[in-house]
Amino acid sequence: MSFPVQRPRRLRKTELLRGLVRETRLSAASFVYPLFVCPGSGVRHEVSSMPGVFQQSVDRIAEDCREVESLGIPGIILFGLPEKKDPRGASSLQKDGVVQRAIEAIRKAKLNLVVITDVCLCEYTDHGHCGIIENGEVANDPTLAILAEQALSHARAGADIVAPSDMMDGRVAAIRRKLDENNFQDLPILSYAAKYCSGFYGPFREAADSAPQFGDRRSYQMDPANSREALREVALDLDEGADMIMVKPALPYLDVITRVRQEFSVPVAAYNVSGEYSMVKAAAQKGWLDEKRVALEILTGIKRAGADIILTYHAKDAARWLK
Ligand code: PBG
Repeated sequence: MSFPVQRPRRLRKTELLRGLVRETRLSAASFVYPLFVCPGSGVRHEVSSMPGVFQQSVDRIAEDCREVESLGIPGIILFGLPEKKDPRGASSLQKDGVVQRAIEAIRKAKLNLVVITDVCLCEYTDHGHCGIIENGEVANDPTLAILAEQALSHARAGADIVAPSDMMDGRVAAIRRKLDENNFQDLPILSYAAKYCSGFYGPFREAADSAPQFGDRRSYQMDPANSREALREVALDLDEGADMIMVKPALPYLDVITRVRQEFSVPVAAYNVSGEYSMVKAAAQKGWLDEKRVALEILTGIKRAGADIILTYHAKDAARWLK
């Protein structure tokens, strides 16, 4: 039986009806807000390619986190801009490093927030790659020990979850082993399992000052054309001990989010990355798009595709819009 008996428009008549039959409900409860920590105090410097996003010193980060908490956003993820960079990213391991101090400040402020840390070397190395360089190449195995030490130092500072984003093979296992040896067997790992080599990270590299100084990340991040490989990456990371996995970026990879959601039962996070945010901001500033409308539509799409958790620079705005 079809038209005139079937009329899907019947259920679209009023907002009340539409709300009743809505399949996907977006809420601040699934958002994670990314923050960039820099040295100094009282610093709050707007990233030019990401309006509304700031590089902030530890004191300002703690203030910002209070606002995040008050908006009902459950978590943040921290990225560090260290005082000094070197070939091995030594500043990422310091007890008094920017991220470590930010975690402590947030803990001290007794905020009800899940504190996630990004574990990677690109923000801390002078060459800007996510691993150390040997013979002109990003060397996998020697990088693992440094990543594990970095994760441990975040754990010691009080992080709730560590999130490796480097895409070295075997890093989840190395981090899990290191955490377990040091009595952090209950600390979860959120692995950036399917992280693509994407042009959408452009603005982030300004925000985190982490652009590679030579070459690109194609030898470790995934080829945008592949989705079966994403399933393999996820399976390997889960095997190594990841508790949750991430697909990144989100918008050009909604099919990957859906496939991962269908094949695995762990929580799936999606990173609505810097370029996805900046495109909306730029178009809205020109009056070409309605920012609120498209941002909520994008976030709903990511959720509908199957993401349980969405990392997004729009988290605070969206939480306000959804109130
Ligand atoms: C670091 C890292 C990157 C992002 C998150 N962690 C950048 C990169 O791989 O170059 C990107 C986030 C964004 O674009 O918002 N490894």
